Amino acid sequence: MRDILVEYINWRRQLELALRNSRTSNPTRLGSVDGIVFTGMGGSGIVGDVLAEYLKEVTELPVAVVKSYRLPRYVRRGWLAVAISYSGNTLETLNAAREALRRGSSVAVIASGGRLLELAKELRLPYVAVEPGLLPRVAFPSLLVGASVLLRDLLDLELELSEGLRVLEDLEGVLKLSERLAAFLRGAIPVFVATEELYPLALRAKNEFNENAKVVCKVEVIPEWGHNDIVGWEGASGVFKVVVFRYGSNELTDFAARYIARLGHEVEVVDVSRGGYIESILYGSWVVGLASVILGRSLGVDPSETRSIGVYKEFLAKVLPP
Ligand code: PA5
Repeated sequence: MRDILVEYINWRRQLELALRNSRTSNPTRLGSVDGIVFTGMGGSGIVGDVLAEYLKEVTELPVAVVKSYRLPRYVRRGWLAVAISYSGNTLETLNAAREALRRGSSVAVIASGGRLLELAKELRLPYVAVEPGLLPRVAFPSLLVGASVLLRDLLDLELELSEGLRVLEDLEGVLKLSERLAAFLRGAIPVFVATEELYPLALRAKNEFNENAKVVCKVEVIPEWGHNDIVGWEGASGVFKVVVFRYGSNELTDFAARYIARLGHEVEVVDVSRGGYIESILYGSWVVGLASVILGRSLGVDPSETRSIGVYKEFLAKVLPP
């Protein structure tokens, strides 16, 4: 069994290497574009969610996230499509990248290898080749740095990652928190609740617990949560346990945690505030990555193995034209 706990523990080292080594090949300064679309799936696609949320406050450009093999019609010439696939062989991402090329959009690639990287080399597209040999979800720090390097070199957009190394320093503290979280969620269906701003982290948490611990989870986003899910808690059974993510002070987050607890459910609040937005997401992702592996191990499953994703990918290859 591959020990991915160690690989998560080594995130600081991974980030350090990525910050030192990541380069844009075939850099093309685009100056201005009409919009940016991030396309990618699972552990690679989450980078698009994080960046889209971050860029809301940084640029006036429309920013879209596509987790599919098709692009919306508004992605056309003048847009930049950033295709992210750790393996470089994910069909949805490859298809979306090819569609962007057909429409005349600029395309940039982040991958560790595979057909996507070959495509980038063949067509001399800007790309960042990230460290190979990891699982996609474990490679999050490298993918994040890859994206930050591309955005800087192509569009002059700076991502706040300077404090990233600092937030990954407190291994003892983060392990303690992750163990507590894993113990809290054992035997339950985890429900991750966050504001829209922290939605990428709540989604990341769901994906990590799905893949590493093999459990079904749910994500709820505030304020929409207050218009439907809130009522469900009136009749929910004890099978759910709630993790509310907090970033800075937010009255709605505190209200959600209090309200669900008042209805008799177990709630744990995890404050991920660690300086800037991206760094806080990185820290929160570290916590949920470790916690999901710890939970998976305690349940006797192999956190590194994702057999059903393989089954799905094989099926997709049969039904999606090459
Ligand atoms: O974390 C994982 O292993 C998956 O969610 C993958 O990221 C997903 O299947 C897509 O593969 P890739 O990241 O190689 O494009």
